[in-house]
Amino acid sequence: MPNSLIIKRKIKNFNKIISVCGDKSISIRWVLFSSLANGISKAKNLLMSEDVKAALNAIKILGIKSRINNNGCIVYGKGINGFNYKKNIKINAANSGTLGRLILGLLINTTHPIKLIGDKSLSKRDFKRVSDPLSKFGAKFKLKKNKNLPLEITGSSKLTPIKYVEKKGSAQCKSAVIFAGLRTNGTTIIKAKKSRNHTELLCKYLKLPITVKNRNNYDEIRIKKIKKINKLDYIIPSDISSSSFFLVLTALSENSKLIIKKVNINSSRLGIIYILKKMGVKVSLKNSQNYKGEKIADIKILSPNVIKPINCPKKFNSGAIDEFLVIFLLAAKANGISYFKGLNELNQKESPRLKWGSKILNEMGIHNIVTKDSIKIYGNPKLNINKKITIKNYLKDHRIFMTSVIAALSFGGEWEIHDKDSFKTSFPNFLKIIDKFKKS
Ligand code: S3P
Repeated sequence: MPNSLIIKRKIKNFNKIISVCGDKSISIRWVLFSSLANGISKAKNLLMSEDVKAALNAIKILGIKSRINNNGCIVYGKGINGFNYKKNIKINAANSGTLGRLILGLLINTTHPIKLIGDKSLSKRDFKRVSDPLSKFGAKFKLKKNKNLPLEITGSSKLTPIKYVEKKGSAQCKSAVIFAGLRTNGTTIIKAKKSRNHTELLCKYLKLPITVKNRNNYDEIRIKKIKKINKLDYIIPSDISSSSFFLVLTALSENSKLIIKKVNINSSRLGIIYILKKMGVKVSLKNSQNYKGEKIADIKILSPNVIKPINCPKKFNSGAIDEFLVIFLLAAKANGISYFKGLNELNQKESPRLKWGSKILNEMGIHNIVTKDSIKIYGNPKLNINKKITIKNYLKDHRIFMTSVIAALSFGGEWEIHDKDSFKTSFPNFLKIIDKFKKS
């Protein structure tokens, strides 16, 4: 296949210090907040991936200019009422669930219908989960098959605040409602199952009228209407989800050591670190510092002698939701049976990732039992692949592509991974960093 990546050789041991790209969740949120801000916002280390480019295109359609410069980006905000809702506007969220869902919150007060489209993968995903709460504010939606893209939103100038119980642990649904709440008179109240909280932290940093009470299993969030958003200069920290591919690569190698610099270590994203530790991998956070409400640290990891199996507590699920595919590779090499449960949300991602995780493990010769929300993985510490494996028709899911690369480099065999550009959705310099490891 012309657009495939072929890997035929395992990686040798290494001792490296690397930096990965900017965090995807924070980058998209920075674009959206800046598009509503008064004046010019500047970001450094903004993730220049397809998802973030789609966010910049989306605000351009709404009349907000931006400029990409050396390792940075400038957004020329025109205030909270600065969008230019022309007739027949179409926003393309491409592959990005985060953009597609969050932007609907910003569009809650448009009085012209706006169309939202996405690529093949996004068009299969559930948008009813956001249109349902946003309809309660007073917006009107038309969705394909009542649930999918393309959809059309017509907002309202007479919005009413809502009480919303978010049960899935979806930061995208929670954030869409927060954005809508910021545009609505009165107090919007959200009772949300724990999920990543970058939107709340940015609201707090911007001194927007939001309060968050952390309860045991959920957060109670109250939001009031804003009058203005100040410009937001921000240095985007590195992405722990992108880092996880290299953390797992190290954990699967022998006699190797890796430090990843200045990674966002928001406590709602640390599932991968807890899981690595539970599986017996030495991983630690160094030089921890606060940055505009977020936390940043260097992550240091050493390859272990053995990987222990895990009965993964459900409380880690939300904090590791984007990492499970690559975590399954750890379980493949563990000296026992690992069990992951309560993962129905994993099949709601860019592809049905629980099914795909099982499929890749089957290809690798790792016995596993998968249900609609769990997987049992029978690890083999001596796993050494000697056959040809082709990964194709996976809806160009970036994390499937990158997980397959890590599997190929760790377990051997001859891998042909189709749709070589998929990784650019979230981690545009992924293969460049991989090349550095190949040369070591
Ligand atoms: C994200 C939230 C998560 C995550 C996604 C990014 C975000 O999705 O899987 O990659 O930036 O808010 P859900 O909100 O669907 O759980």
